[in-house]
Amino acid sequence: MKEQLQQTQNQAESAIKDAHSMQELQEIRVKYLGKKGELTAALRGMKDLSNEERPKIGKIVNEVRANIENALETAMTEVKQKEKNIRLSNETIDVTMPGKEVEIGHKHPLTGVLDEIKNIFIGMGFKIAEGPEVETVYNNFDALNAPKNHPARGMSDTFYINDEILLRTQTSPVQIRTMKKAKPPIKVISPGRCFRYDTPDATHSPMFHQIEGLVIDKNITMSDLKGTLNLFAKQLFGENTKTKFRPHHFPFTEPSAEIDVTCFKCQGEGCRVCKGSGWIEILGAGMVHPNVLRECGIDPEEYSGFAFGMGLDRITMLKYGVEDIRLFFENDMRFIEQF
Ligand code: PHE
Repeated sequence: MKEQLQQTQNQAESAIKDAHSMQELQEIRVKYLGKKGELTAALRGMKDLSNEERPKIGKIVNEVRANIENALETAMTEVKQKEKNIRLSNETIDVTMPGKEVEIGHKHPLTGVLDEIKNIFIGMGFKIAEGPEVETVYNNFDALNAPKNHPARGMSDTFYINDEILLRTQTSPVQIRTMKKAKPPIKVISPGRCFRYDTPDATHSPMFHQIEGLVIDKNITMSDLKGTLNLFAKQLFGENTKTKFRPHHFPFTEPSAEIDVTCFKCQGEGCRVCKGSGWIEILGAGMVHPNVLRECGIDPEEYSGFAFGMGLDRITMLKYGVEDIRLFFENDMRFIEQF
């Protein structure tokens, strides 16, 4: 019995020595000291001993139990300390490591220039109006006084959804929507996407952006149009910018003009940006045609107004010297991040 107990203790101690985790140690405790453990079994066997032997063996059992418990206690403390050290070393923060860079986004160049243009017109008292990109043929052409044989109406220029619906080729249909909805005075700009059946190249994209302007009130004249666009040009391109109004034709304005600004790069001297002319064309404009006013239920005898439209992509290209419109829509971050 005595030897057997000694052997149990030796076994337990060597198992404890080999154990590396709390779990293993717990298992050892159950195996030797638990209710169904080896020492409990030994205690139970004591009833078969003689009265003389019982206290001696009892004493040994208690000693063995105490020894195993001590060994377990020591081992557990050690393992706990080791596990803690491992945890701590895993959690160590090297404060000398370089920080992770947080990338901050910024506006797409088209959005940036659009915001500048919006702010200029909002400063002049304009409101923002919006219209859908999928439009009726009526709003895009008929109500804008475009004759049935107008070349822009052809299948080769316009994306038709069906006979009555198309992708708008200009932001001008928002003029119609605005005039049909609100009574004058009207003073709005309307930025948005437009679509034309163009093969993409450096200056053409089947999807592009325009900003429309519309002012309707009593006694609006060509001089209001000139004053507004002159101020706009100075604010966007610089105080010394001059404008030139060239006669032109649009079905929905009469008279109509194309507007050039003095080149902001060379101030009119002639350079690569303005192709040597000193002028850059940026806008179409004119006085709203009486037919268009009438179509929208506004009496041309009482009210008059002007409208203008500009290409956001072209203005942004000029402003930043971007030579290919397609760069705006490829979303290559190496390009976008330069602005
Ligand atoms: N919608 C015309 C175009 O796309 C521009 C324009 C707008 C002209 C308003 C006059 C008045 O070319």
